[in-house]
Amino acid sequence: MNLIFFGAPGAGKGTIAKMLKDRENLVHISTGDIFRTAIKNKTELGLKVTSILDKGELVPDELTISLVSERVKEPDCKSGYILDGFPRTLVQAEAWSKEATIDAAVYFDISDDEVVRRLCGRRTCPNCHSIFHVEFNKPKKDGICDVCNSELIIRPDDSNESINNRLKVYHTQTEPLVEYFTKLQKVIVINAVQNSEKVYSDIAGKIK
Ligand code: AP5
Ligand code: MG
Ligand code: ZN
Repeated sequence: MNLIFFGAPGAGKGTIAKMLKDRENLVHISTGDIFRTAIKNKTELGLKVTSILDKGELVPDELTISLVSERVKEPDCKSGYILDGFPRTLVQAEAWSKEATIDAAVYFDISDDEVVRRLCGRRTCPNCHSIFHVEFNKPKKDGICDVCNSELIIRPDDSNESINNRLKVYHTQTEPLVEYFTKLQKVIVINAVQNSEKVYSDIAGKIK
């Protein structure tokens, strides 16, 4: 099964993808995580995209499409994958629907106010990409990753300025994909403003 998760920043795409990949045996491919790992390792890709991510702009389509194309060719993707945060422009969506089989595009529906509440309290693990929230999903030990014991961080793009820009970019560039995937009869709209177990079970019930 090949799924796309799309929606506003902070809608819970990463959180739910991590739940679903374990339970459905799918590979979780987060383009954001790929870019952040490249930035951390100071690779050529990382140096190219650092300031783009910090500002909450989008990485150029061509670069992003070729990166995902290469990733899904790896053998672990044979049994299916979740694309988390890709495609997120019409150009990417059109290219991808020509290139790959899409079983469903899951749209995480959420208000801007809720996005801000979630992103302001998010803490992430720079090592294993686990996701926490100071109120909604606390780590067992304050500031420490439950999975790998690394110190949690606030993502650089979770500053107020970057959150506002990411929302603007989302509304202009990614929201039109709802209509695009509706026309392709691939869209599943999910109410993302429920606890994560409920969001998960809503999705699990609709993709079967
Ligand atoms: P990316 O990493 O994809 O960031 P994003 O789209 O802004 O989404 P987030 O990761 O911020 O949110 P999420 O939906 O995963 O929510 P999460 O589960 O963490 O992309 C980063 C950047 O990379 C982009 O800005 C761009 O520069 C670049 N990029 C990536 N893909 C690209 C592409 N295709 N093209 C071009 N550029 C690209 O949850 C958020 C918080 O809420 C957490 O604290 C969590 O604990 C909490 N939470 C989650 N679910 C719930 C719930 N149900 N109830 C309460 N709290 C919850
Ligand atoms: Mg994410
Ligand atoms: Zn960790």
